[in-house]
Amino acid sequence: MGKDVIVACDFDSAEATFAFLDKFADCSRKPFVKIGMELYYAEGPSIVKEIKARGHKIFLDLKLHDIPNTVKKAMAVLSGLDVDITNVHAAGTTPMMKGALEGLTRPDGTRPLLIAVTQLTSTDEETMQRDLLIQHPIDEVVMHYAETAKNAGLDGVVCSPMEAGKVHERCGEKFLTITPGVRFADSEMGDQKRVMTPAAAKEIGSDYIVVGRPITSAEDPVAAYERCVAEFCD
Ligand code: C5P
Repeated sequence: MGKDVIVACDFDSAEATFAFLDKFADCSRKPFVKIGMELYYAEGPSIVKEIKARGHKIFLDLKLHDIPNTVKKAMAVLSGLDVDITNVHAAGTTPMMKGALEGLTRPDGTRPLLIAVTQLTSTDEETMQRDLLIQHPIDEVVMHYAETAKNAGLDGVVCSPMEAGKVHERCGEKFLTITPGVRFADSEMGDQKRVMTPAAAKEIGSDYIVVGRPITSAEDPVAAYERCVAEFCD
């Protein structure tokens, strides 16, 4: 898969999601869709099947984190949904990530891409040190988690666009970086703090950008999506 823009469909119902996706009916490119916890917990596996049936690629962003056996079995269930990308928390450690890979791999050897969340971008260094007792600089922690995920056999990490270049330096060009926190130069930041434009994310080497509100809340979502594609993919 090449560079792509993943649209975060952070809606609380199938109805709202389809009303949004219907706007793209005449768009020459079918958006890659991210389904997060809100939509998945509201609608269950049927929402994945329905969006897939409309021809979209899917990133199922459920960020699994539990004991290895539980994650392995949960991933075996998710492997039947035929998504393109899914994820776990790197903090679950190597045995859990290996269990996730095993569970996700279908009998014919195929599987969705498996990505690790490093430190959430909502966690800053002070909170990490105080609440998690991790006494290292946060960018070192993110790089260490990325290397651990790579050594466990995962395909990439979710990280800030600011970290994507460094992750590629440490883990290789083929190790994928999926980066939220993208904003147009002339748009609202919302609650994101460390943001980058699609063009800058391309420059720094992100493989996929995850874009939510700049597209979902735009007056013309299709135009906003096409602007992202033009800046990031072309
Ligand atoms: O609306 P916005 O563009 O900020 O949406 C970004 C999306 O990426 C949301 O679905 C958010 O949950 C997700 N995300 C994030 N930061 C992370 C991981 C996921 O913003 N570290």
